[in-house]
Amino acid sequence: MTTSRFDDITRDQLSRPDSRKWSLHAGTIGAWVAEMDFGTAPMVTEALHRAIDDGDLGYLAPATTRRMAEAASEWLRTDCGWAIAPENIHPVSDVMAALEVAVTKYSPAGSGVIIPTPAYMPFLSFIPTLGREVFEVPCIESDGRWTHDLDGIEAAFHAGARTLILCNPHNPTGTAISREELEAIAVIVDRHNGRVFADEIHSPLRYGSTPHVAYASISAVTARHTITATSASKAWNIPGLKAAQLITSNLADEEPLPDLRFRCAARGLDARGHRCHGGLP
Ligand SMILES: Cc1ncc(COP(=O)(O)O)c(C=O)c1O
Repeated sequence: MTTSRFDDITRDQLSRPDSRKWSLHAGTIGAWVAEMDFGTAPMVTEALHRAIDDGDLGYLAPATTRRMAEAASEWLRTDCGWAIAPENIHPVSDVMAALEVAVTKYSPAGSGVIIPTPAYMPFLSFIPTLGREVFEVPCIESDGRWTHDLDGIEAAFHAGARTLILCNPHNPTGTAISREELEAIAVIVDRHNGRVFADEIHSPLRYGSTPHVAYASISAVTARHTITATSASKAWNIPGLKAAQLITSNLADEEPLPDLRFRCAARGLDARGHRCHGGLP
């Protein structure tokens, strides 16, 4: 988008009733949702117009899923050097649907989930709906940079948690987590035979040359214990289209997926056929 569009947009244009961000809390500014106000890229708009014109609104065909997986694989290779095969990349409606799959299919029944805080708020309300205990571990702020409390994470694993939600780049602190910090986290997770749900939804959006280190790409150990989720929703500004990916990084983690595939791949639906978390979109 051009600068003039940026400057020209008015409050009335933003406050249209079909914008959840601007209409839900009347009279406030829409700063509570990670969504941009300036549409999407022309190529995306053109593809959407084409799909409408062709009446292409049905369930995903295998060939479409494959094209998505190949595009995501290529993006991850060029953007952050993660060589992950298209076969490992599965369509899900959104990252919260991927979180549900990660917790219910890949961690021991009833085991707790570690959420470093501050956190994307729906994590905190959604995990209890899965019948899982939340272990909040406050992050540590020093000179404006937030890092994870490694001792706190270790203690939470000791206390019975089995899954760590690792959001990188981190919402809401904005930290792009360093490789060293990720490696230190991996040692702890591995020591407790735990799992990581790597929420990397914001990874394409970074300042300047800040690198993104995909957690699962660090080592065989992180590949073994991680389910990654990402999405086109933030960087391409299409959250309403439900275009997320669940990524496995080892053979064993492919096994629980076939029975989920049809339900997760239904356009516009989450793993259970409806939006599965309240509060923030
Ligand atoms: C860190 C993080 N994870 C997940 C989500 C939700 O993503 P989705 O709409 O794909 O479930 C958001 C939305 O703002 C987010 O910031």
